[in-house]
Amino acid sequence: MQLQEILFSQGFGTRRVCAGMIQQGLVSVDGRVVADASTPFEADGLAFQVQGVDWEFHENAYLMLHKPAGYECSQKPSTYPSIYTLLPAPVRQRGGGAAAGVQAVGRLDQDTTGLLLLSDDGKFIHRMSSPRHHVPKVYEVTCKHAVGDKQVQKLLAGVVLDDDPKPVRAAACVVKGDLQLSLTLTEGKYHQVKRMIAAAGNRVEMLHRASIGGLALPADLAAGQWRWLTAADLALISAPAAKIA
Ligand code: URA
Repeated sequence: MQLQEILFSQGFGTRRVCAGMIQQGLVSVDGRVVADASTPFEADGLAFQVQGVDWEFHENAYLMLHKPAGYECSQKPSTYPSIYTLLPAPVRQRGGGAAAGVQAVGRLDQDTTGLLLLSDDGKFIHRMSSPRHHVPKVYEVTCKHAVGDKQVQKLLAGVVLDDDPKPVRAAACVVKGDLQLSLTLTEGKYHQVKRMIAAAGNRVEMLHRASIGGLALPADLAAGQWRWLTAADLALISAPAAKIA
């Protein structure tokens, strides 16, 4: 693939902008500046630098973000900044056009922290968000009031939320402290954790998503940071819920 096409596909701007960057000597491959925009490269696995920043070619983008509190999972946020501002411009702009860039796989509330997946692969987003897929998600919940056995039993047996007469149950619910619970859900209803905890007679004070399937938020990924998912990460997502210590 020509170098300008590679840059274009990775979100560095229009073909013209990409060609201009290459001609200005801003792009290197294997440590050497490539100034001819039509130079062909094997795109798969290609590592390159744009203005000194390292990039690797990704046919599709799959990434994880450690969502911090105080960010909305929306392209057009109403009150708080958008999580998309935490990503570099090329990742946000991949693909060009109206539906450009990566999209969050589901949403976390503004005050929820933790593991959020993003991708530009529509099929992946659809599959991961589908209620039929039942990917277990583990949430660490800090409650306002002490957590009792009765509450745990209610969450496991199923509570009725206001928009559906069918009870929703936690796949697992483990007490981690006076106020702390680890809750595993396989659906993704609106404000589901907060509404379930309220229906069980308590209130969520802090909420953190620790894992999706077998993929846990890495301890070394600080709030606000993101990274590409590896093939091993992608395989883990479809594995059973991660064991969170
Ligand atoms: N459930 C909630 O109530 N909020 C979230 O952000 C995620 C799950």
